Amino acid sequence: MRLQLCTWPEVEAYLKRSTGIIQPIGSTEQHGPTGFIGTDSICPELIAERMGDDLDALVAPTINVGMAQHHLGFPGSASLRPSTLIAVVGDIVKSFARHGFDRFFFINGHGGNIPSLQAAFSEIYAERSFAADGGNRSPVRCEVRNWWQIKSVAAIANEVFGDAEGFHATPSEVALTYYGYPDDAARVKKNKLTPKRAPEGPIYDAEDYRRRFPDGRIGSDPSLASEEIGERLLEAAVEELSRDYRAFLEAD
Ligand code: NI
Repeated sequence: MRLQLCTWPEVEAYLKRSTGIIQPIGSTEQHGPTGFIGTDSICPELIAERMGDDLDALVAPTINVGMAQHHLGFPGSASLRPSTLIAVVGDIVKSFARHGFDRFFFINGHGGNIPSLQAAFSEIYAERSFAADGGNRSPVRCEVRNWWQIKSVAAIANEVFGDAEGFHATPSEVALTYYGYPDDAARVKKNKLTPKRAPEGPIYDAEDYRRRFPDGRIGSDPSLASEEIGERLLEAAVEELSRDYRAFLEAD
């Protein structure tokens, strides 16, 4: 169930049966010549929406822009500073917490978001910790799963792609988006990848990134991506993350 398509009385009724919410978070950044700019948002969104349907869980609007300053050398990329992202996550969680939500299950699609997400959770907990009486706030818990790192997904990526998985614009994430958006996939798939497998190296600022990785990819060969593998990855992620979400809701 997507929050964006609910009415407020439906949300009020949902809160009587669950105080959990799934929050997809991604990024708006280049993914090489054959990957969508929205890849990091599309992947967690596809997983979250399937989980929402299967588990009768509410899915919050995707946080579509993340911490991606190193991608700004490429047209179409957008970034929040770490401090902005921490504030955005805090304000969204506190908005929903005001209504009674207290279990926030983030599904993340972008590595650059991880430190800011952890800092945001610490800021949220600190407000309650510093107030001796709890600050008149109900306890809130936040968890994050980086979908591409979970056991079942990493196992498939390793089996199917091996080293060609690389680090950015990976065949796994590209495959999942191709499965979700086959018509757009047919268009971008035709673009050339030279070299087939991208170089590897460190990440600093935007100019340096573009110099080291001229087409935007790092260490990956996304020409191996297919809709069939995308579907397999989606099924595996939904199954594993659904188990994690249920356990998160049931934990004391
Ligand atoms: Ni990505």
